[in-house]
Amino acid sequence: MDVDKSDNTDASADMGSPFMEFKTSIPENGLVLAWLTRDNTKPIRPQTGSALHTRFGSFQHNSMISSKYGTQLASSSSTQAGFIHLLHPTPELWSMSLPHRTQIVYTPDASYIVQRLRIRPGSRVIEAGTGSASFTHALARTVAKNGRIWTFEFHEPRYGIAKKEIEEHGLDSVVKCSHGDVCKDGFISACDENLDASAVFLDLPSPWIAIPHLKTVISKKKIVRICCFSPCMEQVQRTIEALQKEGWLDIEMVEVSCKRWEARKEMIRKPEDAIERLRDIKRRRNEGLRKRNERIISQEQNEETASEPQENGAATPAEKFILDKPFLPSEYNPWGRGKRVHEGEDGYEWKDVSKVEAELKSHTSYLTFAYLPPLVPGKEEMLVPSR
Ligand SMILES: C[S@@+](CC[C@H](N)C(=O)[O-])C[C@H]1O[C@@H](n2cnc3c(N)ncnc32)[C@H](O)[C@@H]1O
Repeated sequence: MDVDKSDNTDASADMGSPFMEFKTSIPENGLVLAWLTRDNTKPIRPQTGSALHTRFGSFQHNSMISSKYGTQLASSSSTQAGFIHLLHPTPELWSMSLPHRTQIVYTPDASYIVQRLRIRPGSRVIEAGTGSASFTHALARTVAKNGRIWTFEFHEPRYGIAKKEIEEHGLDSVVKCSHGDVCKDGFISACDENLDASAVFLDLPSPWIAIPHLKTVISKKKIVRICCFSPCMEQVQRTIEALQKEGWLDIEMVEVSCKRWEARKEMIRKPEDAIERLRDIKRRRNEGLRKRNERIISQEQNEETASEPQENGAATPAEKFILDKPFLPSEYNPWGRGKRVHEGEDGYEWKDVSKVEAELKSHTSYLTFAYLPPLVPGKEEMLVPSR
């Protein structure tokens, strides 16, 4: 991990925003993203005397406080020998661990959008809706301390949670959360500032209704770039019509398709293995049939006769039926049920393969980009009729 060497390693030092500055060591109550598995990262704030309980074991917060970010921590449970990694927050990791309130923008889209909108330190950005504030974190890290993000959300509880989260993450001096319907009322910021934004990101069901409201809040002196994030083509079409009507230029739609390739080992199987596999299927089918017969027979038996123990200790009719059935021995089959072969395990033949990851963590949407040039004094009407 990239660590700022000038960082204050004192755990009790002022925390700032962990999304903007790297710290070397984990402060008490500081945000840590505990990496359990590839699909399970848990945000925690270590407190003296507390513990994180997982299926990999328990992890004492005391052992986390003052240890270095990136530490691999072993479980303190005597029965579970698991471990976790204690990671420093980043917008990318946050998008994998945040409590989802909505669909979110994932890193492949977020990074592309930030680049296409030319967002950089000091940029002034409008975002609607806030949703789970996944993209808001990516924006905040990019615009940094001198930038501004005005984010709008009309769902009150969602707005409240996002605002609290932004405050807890020390981002509230950069991110201004407002509660409101941008389609109905436009972009009225709660902080009463002149927005003068040069980038706009709309992740709303009907961005075409919000677009006409933008002209009063975007910069007139700078080029302004917009991205609308829509899952359906019909939404894209309506957005494009609104953008054209409002004088936006260079309208273009993009779909980001990001696939991670992984190097894996695949077991080499022989024809004999396939035969053995078929035998295994047959054996399990026979076993299933046998169990079904047992159930039918025991239902048919007179309950008393079936359950009454025989005086001489002999089997009941139901037991006899089971015992009389031919027993099919299970053949050794490394791919059969119950036998788990770990990838690359000794004793088997393996070949190196590359595969696309099975589940793609990205919300596939269409990204519609456009820009509005700055107004030229005296030529406003000619350049962009609607501004
Ligand atoms: C898909 S979510 C946004 C997710 C967000 N980009 C993220 O990465 O977490 C869309 C959000 O827009 C909000 N929304 C929809 N229409 C709105 C409107 N007219 N004004 C403000 N917010 C709106 C919804 O309540 C929802 O929370």
